[in-house]
Amino acid sequence: MDVREALYTTRAMRRLAPDPIPDDVLLRILDAAIRAPSAGNQHRFRFLVVKDPATKQAFQALYREVFDELNETRYAAMAEAVRTGTATPDQVRVSNSAAHLADHLHDAPVLLFALGRPGEESSVFPAVWSACLAARAEGIGSTVTTMLKSRRVESEALLGLPEGCEYQMTAMLPLGRPTGRWGVAERRPLQEMVYLERWGRPPGWTVDEALWPDPHASKGAR
Ligand SMILES: Cc1cc2nc3c(=O)[nH]c(=O)nc-3n(C[C@H](O)[C@H](O)[C@H](O)COP(=O)(O)O)c2cc1C
Repeated sequence: MDVREALYTTRAMRRLAPDPIPDDVLLRILDAAIRAPSAGNQHRFRFLVVKDPATKQAFQALYREVFDELNETRYAAMAEAVRTGTATPDQVRVSNSAAHLADHLHDAPVLLFALGRPGEESSVFPAVWSACLAARAEGIGSTVTTMLKSRRVESEALLGLPEGCEYQMTAMLPLGRPTGRWGVAERRPLQEMVYLERWGRPPGWTVDEALWPDPHASKGAR
């Protein structure tokens, strides 16, 4: 797969089929992910693969608890908007997809945990995102999730981290074949995300649609 296609179409895929991920596919994803950079090339990140049904079920219960808590606190306004029909179509889509994941987390064939040292998340996330991109190249969907950090003690006990372990859970990616379609991720316009020379200074150009696939290429040329 073209690297630009992977960059543009790797997005949160929360509806996953339960079919197992073949070992060779999982190995290619992990082997690509550990090529990611880390500070001082010290490899201060680890992956932990969870496939055991009982362990996945236990994580689903924890995840669902956190999800419900967030819907009553941080995401209360959004949850209310979805309930009362005033949410935007995009908010409804994300909300439904997040709820689906909270109910079906254990159906994902693999829960991939990324671990790092406290305060060193910046050496974990390059590998996390590489795992998402490598999964995309294999047709495997993923979502970066961090909600379980609100249940760190319980989660790390389920993962078998020993007392005093120098690593802690940083993120969890459910992996599996997506049941939906891949599409270009919707994002704010580029000019809202980039400044020139000084904070707040507009870049002096505008980009109104994603630059992949090339919006100027003729259909016949693709
Ligand atoms: C640091 C981080 C934490 C996230 N945590 C969660 C999470 O706990 N649960 C979840 O469903 N999605 C989580 N997401 C996924 C985002 O909601 C998702 O990337 C964003 O909505 C864009 O979705 P899209 O790629 O489908 O457009 C997280 C993403 C990031 C980068």
